[in-house]
Amino acid sequence: TSAQIGVTGLAVMGRNLARNFARNGYTVAVHNRTVSRTKALVEEFGQEGDFVAAETAEEFVAALERPRRLVVMVKAGEPTDAVIQEFAPLLEPGDMIIDGGNAHFADTRRRERELRERGIHFVGAGISGGEEGALHGPSIMPGGSVESYQSLGPMLEKISAKAADGAPCVTHVGPDGAGHFVKMVHNGIEYADMQLIGEAYQLLRDVAGYSPAQIADIFRTWNTGRLDSYLIEITAEVLSHVDAATGKPFVDVVVDQAEQKGTGRWTVQIALDLGVPVSGIAEAVFARSLSGHAALRSASRDLAGPQPSALSEPEAAAFADRVEQALYASKIVSYTQGFHEIAAGSEEYGWDIDLGAVASIWRGGCIIRAAFLDRIRAAYDARPDLPSLLSDETFAREIADAQDDWREVQIAAVRQGVATPGFAAALAYYDGLRSPRLPAALTQGQRDFFGAHTYRRVDREGAFHTLWGGDRGEVTA
Ligand code: 6PG
Repeated sequence: TSAQIGVTGLAVMGRNLARNFARNGYTVAVHNRTVSRTKALVEEFGQEGDFVAAETAEEFVAALERPRRLVVMVKAGEPTDAVIQEFAPLLEPGDMIIDGGNAHFADTRRRERELRERGIHFVGAGISGGEEGALHGPSIMPGGSVESYQSLGPMLEKISAKAADGAPCVTHVGPDGAGHFVKMVHNGIEYADMQLIGEAYQLLRDVAGYSPAQIADIFRTWNTGRLDSYLIEITAEVLSHVDAATGKPFVDVVVDQAEQKGTGRWTVQIALDLGVPVSGIAEAVFARSLSGHAALRSASRDLAGPQPSALSEPEAAAFADRVEQALYASKIVSYTQGFHEIAAGSEEYGWDIDLGAVASIWRGGCIIRAAFLDRIRAAYDARPDLPSLLSDETFAREIADAQDDWREVQIAAVRQGVATPGFAAALAYYDGLRSPRLPAALTQGQRDFFGAHTYRRVDREGAFHTLWGGDRGEVTA
């Protein structure tokens, strides 16, 4: 029997992906460095479909029909390189290696180039949706050659999540590292979404005075409206969960130090290189890092600040409605920033990424899936050259409607001393963008003053310098 696809690396993601292919009728070769994992998979789930268990790399490669499609599901970084080095010599021109991990897109570009020289297609594919997604239908963001997508696309479309309109949540994102770049930004947006939700929770708790169970109900209600999304849904689940050991709300027994594996940080690092202001995503990464500085936080506990005092009903209910507006407006801003970064990456690397298609494949399967993404898709489909999501009429109108409440919430947070870096960054971005004049003019003046760095004028072409130390006359630089 020859397998249509092979999966090597059978930790939970790889195992579930292999099962997903098998459940969809494909014969799947499975391989893992530790053979017991391969055996366990076939023993436990063998009845779900056709698996070919391979003990060695040679057996694995021999089990695959040609051109071979070999999915690598190991840890990003060195383990991925090691697996590529192990398999590449056994492959032939035309074969495909698909990396389904959270690789850095620069690594993907390098691997793609190296393998292309040997005639092998390297497909860096972002896969989102966690364990459940891998098994029941993830959102898949493959990069690589058009040729490889022609061969792989139909299979990926079959195993992927489907959006509400039935469209598969996979598209050929673009050449080489485009898929992993888009997955990276997906994760940056995921961080921002989570941070904004966290801030909304904190405000509802400390300013409105609601309990976690009450806040869970508020999120459940929000989830029936325009905020309808996977992350809002699971937030309600987490908030309503009660710790069995203590009877306390689960959220109160978890250490409040957020961890991260790196994709959010990469999103910000790359944005800095590209010169794209992803301030909301950056604040989300920094908020996680601030939370983790336990010693610094305990040393700062006595710093002065207002005592948050809870509102009374019905003020609390009115405040909750405002928080919904602030959350929604801030969410529009973080997606605006994320899509800006994708557009900039696409421009920098010549990927020609279709932003509407990206929004479309994020509608199902992935962690940031949300009803809202269908509207982003519609905005880009209507105008592929949209300068920014905020230039879309519908989003601009929604923010206009939300902005009074958005500002009120920010004022309340500042007054009560509740940290809301995500809301604040989103609002500052919005106000910065719409400002007719920015203090950047002053910055330019200062730079010219201390370093003769020159400036441009609003009324004439060219670069100018003022003789600050002399008669303050202006010269052309
Ligand atoms: C996904 C997720 C996933 C990511 C986790 C954890 O799309 O399925 O983005 O790829 O690894 O969300 O990320 P952190 O550990 O960095 O929070």
